[in-house]
Amino acid sequence: MAVSSAKTVFHLLTDDDLAPEQAQALIALAAELKAQHQAGHPQHHLLRGKTLAMIFQKPSTRTRVAFEAGMAQLGGHALYLSTNDLQLGRGETIADTARVLSRYVDVIMARVFKHADVVELATYATVPVINGLSDLAHPTQGLADMLTIKEHLGGWEGRTLAYLGCANNMAHSLALSGALVGLNVRLACPPVCAPDATILARAQAIAAKTGAQITVHADPWEAVAGVDVVYTDVWVSMGQQATPTLLEALRPYQVTPAIMAAAGPQAIFMHCLPMYRGQEVVAEVADGPQSVIFDQAENRLHLHKALLVALLTDAGTRVFSGTTA
Ligand code: CP
Ligand code: NVA
Repeated sequence: MAVSSAKTVFHLLTDDDLAPEQAQALIALAAELKAQHQAGHPQHHLLRGKTLAMIFQKPSTRTRVAFEAGMAQLGGHALYLSTNDLQLGRGETIADTARVLSRYVDVIMARVFKHADVVELATYATVPVINGLSDLAHPTQGLADMLTIKEHLGGWEGRTLAYLGCANNMAHSLALSGALVGLNVRLACPPVCAPDATILARAQAIAAKTGAQITVHADPWEAVAGVDVVYTDVWVSMGQQATPTLLEALRPYQVTPAIMAAAGPQAIFMHCLPMYRGQEVVAEVADGPQSVIFDQAENRLHLHKALLVALLTDAGTRVFSGTTA
């Protein structure tokens, strides 16, 4: 994981701040906490007395509620901090905000427009910083999605996910998280929305070690042929502008029943949400029998809890040493 300059503090800014064995141990811990939560296991107050600060530059339903509910379930406290309510909104620097919050809280989560902002926060924070979505990556979603895929497909090895749409923050995190767990990822996107070359190279380098293949395709039909997971995201992300040219370029990447049929009846459909039915996916697929979108949303809760427990308790030793049991 990324290390801050002052002392050894772990930050999750992009998925690959975790090594493959660490990512897999984190997902295993999330599955364990999920089972314990469902069984009403009392050991859940692992974070009593701990506080999470959540900075939001843009809206959120899942990320905010899953972190806040997760912290409450673990006996800790979460603070929702909109930039409009913080002095950040009046020009206080990110560096000063990071230094001050670090004196009060145990961990910071931030959802930002520019990835550089969350990097700056981590540079000056003396507590762990979690990227709750930037324009570059959405690691807590990517990692949680790997749990959902494992639950539905039984594992990652030899399995393939095809992502159709703009190669945005979500596509980057799927490529990185997929590579970490050994899942093949095909990114099908128009040239106007190509993946970041550095992220792609990083994902491919990890995949070379874990046995996965991360590839880019212009043709959505070629990308989905026989895959296990068809994934899409909004065509226009928060902070981006929709243009007629962009929407036209993305039209062939819409997930339809025909696309799902090309993947095959075994394929599951995934979307990080929120979604626009009739744009990136038609309602028949989104609400159809192959869709696992609400399992995905639920798993954010369990993954966030595992991450917080790993960062703030001795269980972190197990995750950061990459032990899965
Ligand atoms: N998937 C996701 O991050 O949702 P929110 O924008 O609602 O947090
Ligand atoms: N790519 C989307 C993801 C939302 C969870 C966005 O950034 O708006």
